[in-house]
Amino acid sequence: MRVTVVDDEMFATAAATALLEALPSAAPTLGVATGETPMRVYAELGCRSRRGEVDLSGARVIALDEYVGLDAGDPHSYTAYVRTRIADPLGIPSANVHVPQGDSADPAAAAEVFEQRIADVGGVDVQIAGIGSNGHLAFNEPGSALDSTTRVVELSQQTRHDNARFFGGRVEEVPRQAITQGLATIGRARSILLLAAGRAKADALAAALRGPVAPGVPASVLQRHGDVTVIADRAAWGRMA
Ligand code: PGA
Repeated sequence: MRVTVVDDEMFATAAATALLEALPSAAPTLGVATGETPMRVYAELGCRSRRGEVDLSGARVIALDEYVGLDAGDPHSYTAYVRTRIADPLGIPSANVHVPQGDSADPAAAAEVFEQRIADVGGVDVQIAGIGSNGHLAFNEPGSALDSTTRVVELSQQTRHDNARFFGGRVEEVPRQAITQGLATIGRARSILLLAAGRAKADALAAALRGPVAPGVPASVLQRHGDVTVIADRAAWGRMA
C-alpha cells in the first residue's frame, strides 16, 4: 500500500497526479466515487483537460453506486454527478458512462445487470474510492459480506445523516436504499486510489488500514488488495500518524 499524506490545499493536485500515473492507457476504464471528497479531484482533472494537459475523452467511466428511486435527471442522482462533474468536463461520451439504474422498476435486476456490465467491459483499471465516517466503502455499510457483489442495500442512519448535506440538509429526503457495487466487485479493480480528507474520516481510516479485515469496517477489505494508493490529508491521517 502506497500512502501520500498532504496538506489539504495540495489534496486535489496530489490525487489527480496519482490517478493519471496509475492509468494504463489513453482509453482506460476509470471507476469513480461520487462523494464530496473527489469533487475537487475531478475539478482538477477538468482544469488539466481544458488546458490540454490531459485527454481522458477515450476513457470509460463506471460509478460505484446509485440511489434507488432517483431518476437519471434528478440532480441528486449519481448519474447527474458523473455527467456534470466527470464525463462532460472530460469530454467522455455518454455511451462510455455506466451508472446503476436507480429508477429501475426492478432494482435487484438492475444490480445484476450492472455487475455483468463491469465484467463485459473488461473490469476497472483504476478505482477512485472514498471512505464513509462509519467505514463504509461505496454503499457497503458495516456488516456487508466481504465477498458481496452488486446488489440493493439499505443505507445506514449514519450514511443518510452524512449525505443529507447534498439534500439541503434534509435527511428525510435522502433515499433509504441504493444499488452498490459489492466489496468483491470493488476488489476486482486492478488498482485502487483511496481518498480521505478531513478529521471526520480519521477513525474510519485507521480502522480500515490498521484494524482487522472484517465486515464491521467494510473498507478494511482494501488491506487484501495488492495495489492500493492512499491519498490523505493530515486531518484524515490523524489517527495513523
Ligand atoms: P464523501 O463520502 O467523499 O462525501 O465524504 C465518502 C463516502 O461516504 O464514501
